[in-house]
Amino acid sequence: MGNFDGVGTVLKRGSDIENNGANGKLPTNGAAIEKPSLDEPEQKEILLNQQKFSAPAYTEIRTRRCTVKAAAEAKSPTSTNYHPDKKTIFNGAIFGKHQEECKPNQAEGKLSPELEHHQKTSFEEVPLHTACLTYLGFYLLMILGYINQLLFVPKVATEKNREGYVALYDAFESFYSRYVYRRVKDCWNRPICSVPGDELTLKDRVTDDYGWSFKFTGTETRCLNLGSYNYLGFAAAAGRCADESEERARNDGLAYCSSRCELGDNEQLHELESLTARYFGVEDAINHASIILGLRLSGATIKVFKHNNMRDLERVLREGICYGNPKKGGTPWNKIMVVVEGIFSMEGSIVRLPEIIALKKKYKAYLYLDEAHSVGAMGSHGRGVTDYFNVNPKEVDILMGTFTKSFGSAGGYLAGSKKLIDFLRTNSHAHCYAGSISPPIAQQILTSMKTIMGEDGSDTGRKKILQLARNTRYFRRRLAQLGVITYGHEDSPVVPMLVYLFSKIGAVVRTLTTRHIAVVGAGFPATPIMEGRIRFCLSAAHTKEQLDYALEVIDEIGDDLGLKYSRKPRDANPIEY
Ligand SMILES: Cc1ncc(COP(=O)(O)O)c(C=O)c1O
Repeated sequence: MGNFDGVGTVLKRGSDIENNGANGKLPTNGAAIEKPSLDEPEQKEILLNQQKFSAPAYTEIRTRRCTVKAAAEAKSPTSTNYHPDKKTIFNGAIFGKHQEECKPNQAEGKLSPELEHHQKTSFEEVPLHTACLTYLGFYLLMILGYINQLLFVPKVATEKNREGYVALYDAFESFYSRYVYRRVKDCWNRPICSVPGDELTLKDRVTDDYGWSFKFTGTETRCLNLGSYNYLGFAAAAGRCADESEERARNDGLAYCSSRCELGDNEQLHELESLTARYFGVEDAINHASIILGLRLSGATIKVFKHNNMRDLERVLREGICYGNPKKGGTPWNKIMVVVEGIFSMEGSIVRLPEIIALKKKYKAYLYLDEAHSVGAMGSHGRGVTDYFNVNPKEVDILMGTFTKSFGSAGGYLAGSKKLIDFLRTNSHAHCYAGSISPPIAQQILTSMKTIMGEDGSDTGRKKILQLARNTRYFRRRLAQLGVITYGHEDSPVVPMLVYLFSKIGAVVRTLTTRHIAVVGAGFPATPIMEGRIRFCLSAAHTKEQLDYALEVIDEIGDDLGLKYSRKPRDANPIEY
């Protein structure tokens, strides 16, 4: 890949989604929301989950009822075993026939793909007073930080004897992490000491010096896990994946202790590669423990286009072709590559793949699709966004993804034509020099992938895909009903909930932890200053009861912390699971 010296067109986040210029065909809804029938072992598993969930850790939860909610009580199908008072979320205004409108296939043949995509993607402008408050709060933190830095000498080492060298640390980054981020540092890098399943165990920490350092208290907190990328619930300490990986480790050890090009090749890795190629419906695939060198390392010239904005992408492509390479007197670029993510990990939106493919064909560009978050999580067969949009995977030149999320393992893959993969096999630095993927890690991928494909002889994989789709729709719709602002597509299991203010990210993460819910916050510089958020990641392992519990707590703290920013009308009807 090192020799792609054309324009690397990478994404910039943003919000505009256009409603015109229809190209390509209508996206079909990958995973239909149907209730999977449960066989006996699954019923046991769910029962086990429910027992786990009503463990003492959760019994301190208080439910609050308001008169409006009580009025809707009788209608609710959403109540959980956990809350015998059958509480219903009810928020006043009636939102038309929203549920009807969101039914898959309803719009097929009527709406342009853009309009349909737009309708299914939620985005709401930040209210003006919140925007002002957010900026004010942020700059206040910065001013306090600068005063702090002036008055108190930081307890950190400074660079010495580095005259003539480039500084190791950026001054602003150092300031920001010490005096702004430190205030909420306890909300990140939180150590866990369990498998990141539907629940996880946090190792409790305290700080005696305002976040400069932390020490363990020796206690642990069991939490509902809404932060890990365990989309299909394959991250589990027991079950088929764990058993087969254990057996593999006993037979083959933990490492091949060599690269693929030397003595680290193995039948298992060949099986994994051919299975990956079959899974994606491409000619060949290559697996290794790291992503191929990034765009920057490739030396490509990078141009950005607005998030999911096809008109802007077309503009960038057209300009690239018209003006050529300015560094070489306007000579044509050798190659132009469009690089996109399947599910945008910070926005929860889904790439408009059919239109991008139409554009890349029109302008003879190449397409690189990063499916880190979408593989396994999207499409009726769990094959990612190509599956979701019913697009031939061969239309994408380079399919890249990771096994760290839906497959509950480690490493990643590149899939595409045989020519591409042969090229990578001989030229990729990682393939030639990095150690081979570990046998139990590879086994976890093999077993989970075969399960998704149904090659394990069961329909567990299909049920997991349906369960994730169902959890996603339900959670997103209930959140909308609560009046919080979420971003992203209704089928995306990555659900960012906007809290805007920097200080609120910390407040929400901390409060949810006290209520035994582990989540991940994201703020500047990972997001724009004004768009601090909590990023929920849903999993097929979550039960309705767990989701209802989380929603109930979010409803409560949404009132207390002022998170209900949405000005959209809310659906008063109970949301069907
Ligand atoms: C879009 C995207 N690509 C690639 C990666 C890297 O994945 P990994 O953690 O497997 O290296 C991530 C990680 O979250 C990601 O969000």
